[in-house]
Amino acid sequence: TIPLIIDTDPGVDDAFALALAAASPEVDLIGVTTVFGNVSPELTTRNALRVLALLGREDVPVAAGAERPLVHPNPGVSSAHGADGLSGFASTLPEPSRGPDERDAVTLLKDLLEAAERPVTIAPIGPLTNIALLLAAHPGLRHKIERLVVMGGGVRGGNITSVAEFNLWCDPEAARRVLADPEVPVTLVPMDLTTRAAVSVSWLAELASASEIGAKLVGLTPDYLATYRRILGRDVMALHDAVAVAEVVRPGILRVRRFPVDVECSLGPGRGGLLVDERLESARREGIDIAVDTDAADLHRFMLERLGAL
Ligand code: BDR
Ligand code: CA
Repeated sequence: TIPLIIDTDPGVDDAFALALAAASPEVDLIGVTTVFGNVSPELTTRNALRVLALLGREDVPVAAGAERPLVHPNPGVSSAHGADGLSGFASTLPEPSRGPDERDAVTLLKDLLEAAERPVTIAPIGPLTNIALLLAAHPGLRHKIERLVVMGGGVRGGNITSVAEFNLWCDPEAARRVLADPEVPVTLVPMDLTTRAAVSVSWLAELASASEIGAKLVGLTPDYLATYRRILGRDVMALHDAVAVAEVVRPGILRVRRFPVDVECSLGPGRGGLLVDERLESARREGIDIAVDTDAADLHRFMLERLGAL
């Protein structure tokens, strides 16, 4: 099994991502760390605890992390996930029987990496602040990271501004450090791909009828779905973060190409944008793997099969 830590800001699609990990015997979810992002850090931590309670995984430690970006003040939260981060339905999830771990996120990450017998996969599916702090505070632990499967960035434009995707935009300086670290293998799952792989309303209906937990997850989606209906003009919703976890569970389910990247850190209108150097791809070995394609029907089948069996 693949030891996995999810760094997250739940968030509707984050909840689906946690559920997909919990539903997959290929991975051993050894920890969850939380970060500011979709909603306040207090709410992302509470939501992570609630989602794990729903999944019957209160054995997984949850540690609270960064409350603000590395350099510039928190630019604000996402409107897509409702006021409580789960479309206003967080209270439909079971009350957690525990609080967060007493360690902060970076300490939990460090402890888990140190204790791991083999390198650990980390799936950062929120702003990259905790991961940047980890790499800065404990550079010697890089070799304990198998790979980072990051949801973030847009190759051809963004969602929170015309060029920036939300997770990178929340903390561009952190994203730059993480994505440009030459010693950590990164697979980047950008919003271009996750939006193309959006699930339909009928997929959601199938999941809701498959199991009680499936129905609870679908119950968290109304505000989020409304946002995507408005933006995309279709009855679909992008499960960005769950697509990244699908790649962890089934490596290769996303087709990748390798490109050098950078993140725009100026304070101007390009802030938080992902810069992908698409020149001379074949001649190069450096860079990170960017997910560019998938068989969406197969991905949807896979996610439904797993989530529906919970
Ligand atoms: C990303 O931003 C958040 O709103 C989602 O949870 C996802 O991680 C998509 O841009
Ligand atoms: Ca997220």
